[in-house]
Amino acid sequence: MSFVPDGWQASSSELTGKTVLITGASRGIGEAVALSCAHHGAEVLLLGRDEAALARVYDQITDLGCPKPGIIPLDLNTRDPSLYSALADELSAANVVLDGLVHNASVLGERRALAQTSPSSWDEVLQVNMTSVFLLTRALMPLLEAASAASVVLTSSGVGRRGKAYWGAYAVSKFATEGYMQVLADELGATSSVRVNSLNPGAVNTGMRRAAYPGEPPDTNPMPDALTDRWLYLLSDASRELNGQALSAQS
Ligand SMILES: NC(=O)c1ccc[n+]([C@@H]2O[C@H](COP(=O)([O-])OP(=O)(O)OC[C@H]3O[C@@H](n4cnc5c(N)ncnc54)[C@H](OP(=O)(O)O)[C@@H]3O)[C@@H](O)[C@H]2O)c1
Repeated sequence: MSFVPDGWQASSSELTGKTVLITGASRGIGEAVALSCAHHGAEVLLLGRDEAALARVYDQITDLGCPKPGIIPLDLNTRDPSLYSALADELSAANVVLDGLVHNASVLGERRALAQTSPSSWDEVLQVNMTSVFLLTRALMPLLEAASAASVVLTSSGVGRRGKAYWGAYAVSKFATEGYMQVLADELGATSSVRVNSLNPGAVNTGMRRAAYPGEPPDTNPMPDALTDRWLYLLSDASRELNGQALSAQS
């Protein structure tokens, strides 16, 4: 049972007039969510580190005649807060108001026991999957507050809700994501129009899933574009009342 109400379907203009920033928009779930948001009227800001891949997503969106997207080249494996505030300043100077922020980018890291996990891999996974979420949200909060009812979507995982051997820093980063979501939602709930929820996509046929489960036939799992209505619902005003919820795309 999905959290999307029975019968709800995004209209073709569901996100018209909204601006949504999506991290890790170059491939996998992020690419599918970006295309779907654009297809439903949003101006999307595509954030990632692979500019050529982002340009391909840009071309797909403009070829469909959707609102012209923006490209934000940024490697989230960076701790320097000034890079995040520079981005916020640049968007603010361009009068961008953010109606949606989808924290989707993540790395899997090493799939081995914690005792064998290298400190450098631990640091990268925690930085990309969690610390960058804190830095980016912190920098962009004024732009989110400027919207009438902005929605922040954090991307969780099954191993962020129940720990499993050999999922190491990735699982820990996703538990941290859930904790961050609860704290932020509680802080914002009483004082802000911004809401924040976490979404576990479940098993999806992407590069990350194929890397984590090399022996699994890839078509066991849905393609990302089969699930994008979950993100559309969370980004649309239809879900205005949802805040602080740990949601699942496939249960
Ligand atoms: N697929 C699943 O079965 C599954 C299950 C549960 C949760 N999830 C979660 O869903 C989200 C999307 O996963 P996916 O399966 O679509 O993964 P994916 O295909 O591996 O895509 C990951 C995205 O994150 C970006 N990224 C990675 N490191 C980055 C960095 N340092 N700076 C900027 N961008 C970076 C990648 O960009 P590059 O092209 O530059 O690498 C790519 O766009 C993740 O949060 C993942 O944890 C996925």
